[in-house]
Amino acid sequence: MADFTDPREYEEKFDPRLYLETYFHLGSGSLADDFLRFVLENFNKTFKSGAVKGCTLIDVGTAPSIYQLLSACENFDDITVTWHTKRELQELQKWLNGEPDAFDWSSIVKHVCELEGNRMSPKEKEEKLRGKIKQVLMCDVSKTNPLAPHEGPNADCLLTTVCLEAACRSYESYGTALKNLSNLLKPKGHLLMAGDLGANYYEVGPNKVFSLPVNEKFLKEVISGSGYELVQLVSFGKPEDADFGSSDYEGFYFVHAQKI
Ligand SMILES: C[S@@+](CC[C@H](N)C(=O)[O-])C[C@H]1O[C@@H](n2cnc3c(N)ncnc32)[C@H](O)[C@@H]1O
Repeated sequence: MADFTDPREYEEKFDPRLYLETYFHLGSGSLADDFLRFVLENFNKTFKSGAVKGCTLIDVGTAPSIYQLLSACENFDDITVTWHTKRELQELQKWLNGEPDAFDWSSIVKHVCELEGNRMSPKEKEEKLRGKIKQVLMCDVSKTNPLAPHEGPNADCLLTTVCLEAACRSYESYGTALKNLSNLLKPKGHLLMAGDLGANYYEVGPNKVFSLPVNEKFLKEVISGSGYELVQLVSFGKPEDADFGSSDYEGFYFVHAQKI
């Protein structure tokens, strides 16, 4: 039986603004500093190499974040962002609309601009990404067509960060979700995924939010068993002196795969 997180439970436990304030100020000393540096560097390298390019990109489980798209918008002109629960969509919309009380992504945008050689200012970078986002759609990875009722655009690239570990309650359903996502991709289309290794939870305020603990062996098996060819899997192990009570994570992963 494939099982997935109940969206009502998710909405109750996951305060999107608190999640951003807790983990997305780069340099604040949270466990996400390592995650952000690792994942942003891998996205930067992957897109800069030219190995992943095309026209359409779908980010699965975007809301409320945008950090994962900052390098992608250099290679893709038509980006679809997605949401699963209303509260996180509202937070994302504040940024999309440039509202004064939108979350301040500046520490992260500045870091990505530095990785890219400061070709543009952080303000220009945010505007560039906003201009490339053409659609905001509801997404459910448990569905055969995760963007139903919209027909998938047959994307050149799918990107997803810290999403399947939140959505999938079992290893079987993780495989089901990956197969469902492949229905949105062109043959040979690229899948880029990043997330935590070994985490059962992470804290958002007083709540422990569920995470399915995955390891590298599982990721390799589930990717090749779900219709993709693994191109690269890189990982980052939690430093021995890291002492964060906010999650029991063991490290982070970054995956590049291609639909067969
Ligand atoms: C920890 S957040 C990650 C958000 C963002 N990708 C990031 O990297 O910060 C987990 C995301 O998974 C989404 N999610 C949970 N269940 C889902 C499902 N069945 N289908 C699609 N997304 C789902 C949540 O709504 C949330 O946006």
